Amino acid sequence: MTPSTGRTVTRGPGEARTAVPRSTGRRPAAPHTGPEPAVPDAGRPPGVPHAVPAAPSPLSLRDVRITDHATGRKLVHGVTFDLTPGRTVGIVGESGSGKTLTCRAALGILPAHFGISGGSIEIDGTDIGTLTPRAWTALRGSTVSAVFQDPASYLNPSIRVGRQIAEVVRVKQGLGRRAAHERVLGLLRAVHLRDPERVQGQYPHELSGGMLQRILIATAVAAGPRVLIADEATTALDVTVQAEVLDLLAELRRTTGLALVVVSHDLAVVARLCDEVLVMRDGEVVEQGPTRTVLHHPRHPYTRLLVDEHEQYGLDRFRTPEEDA
Ligand SMILES: Nc1ncnc2c1ncn2[C@@H]1O[C@H](COP(=O)(O)OP(=O)(O)OP(=O)(O)O)[C@@H](O)[C@H]1O
Ligand SMILES: [Mg+2]
Repeated sequence: MTPSTGRTVTRGPGEARTAVPRSTGRRPAAPHTGPEPAVPDAGRPPGVPHAVPAAPSPLSLRDVRITDHATGRKLVHGVTFDLTPGRTVGIVGESGSGKTLTCRAALGILPAHFGISGGSIEIDGTDIGTLTPRAWTALRGSTVSAVFQDPASYLNPSIRVGRQIAEVVRVKQGLGRRAAHERVLGLLRAVHLRDPERVQGQYPHELSGGMLQRILIATAVAAGPRVLIADEATTALDVTVQAEVLDLLAELRRTTGLALVVVSHDLAVVARLCDEVLVMRDGEVVEQGPTRTVLHHPRHPYTRLLVDEHEQYGLDRFRTPEEDA
């Protein structure tokens, strides 16, 4: 069992999905930088705006470079993007171009011998280079979380799925057994699984791929992260289920302010969800910009090639009319 970090956050039922802002209904605490007057507006002439310090980006990458120190191979050569609440950045590109390594760097789970050899990653304004393993444990799941392809491999086949989600909320949020059970049911409802009572008592092999991916998403958002990284999270699903899971991610983003990083080889997935897209090839970002601009007016020959390959399947096949409005 994961040891308790002592930094668990207790929230009421339904609150954990509220990733940001972590509103308590109380006046926000004074910023930790610089002195603030006891009465915020005291001494400020009328009409002069209140100097609100900009909230740090939930996830910010600056010219990130990744090297395999065992071989000296440089695998990622400079990735830069900023997330804001409710915003989605997509990463596309050929196999082996460094998409997953970039995600793993942001989650602090690079493979052994791999390291960030340049640039920086900040989560909520904290440089991850300063994080201890204990701080990472507290942060993973609670601030930045992830879902990958092949959900079955992330679940224990011999433990009922409800118990696996409950374990996360008990450790991360310090909930007791009964509260955790209620929370699990709430999460299963939130990811639109029918009959949550029944589903929570089932084993992974009793559930379809789409249901398992919903379970993984429920687990990933259980502790109210600000950022969810979805690395080929819908790739293994058939097209209808894929569309439903994309809708679910869009809904979570809208209702909780979750920021998303979406990695996919499928440009239609990116077109459905992403505000900004990075096109990677061989560890380089060859093109980056607003999704519509990049997909409809690609400038780099490699992006053009990708778009041409996708045209026949329909770039807009997952787009929803209301979100196009
Ligand atoms: N555990 C590892 N050990 C050795 N090399 C690795 C490892 N993980 C990734 N690599 C290498 O790093 C490079 C980038 O891999 P990465 O997994 O980030 O690619 P990707 O863009 O996610 O590809 P895909 O679309 O196939 O998932 C590749 O050359 C890959 O061989
Ligand atoms: Mg990958």
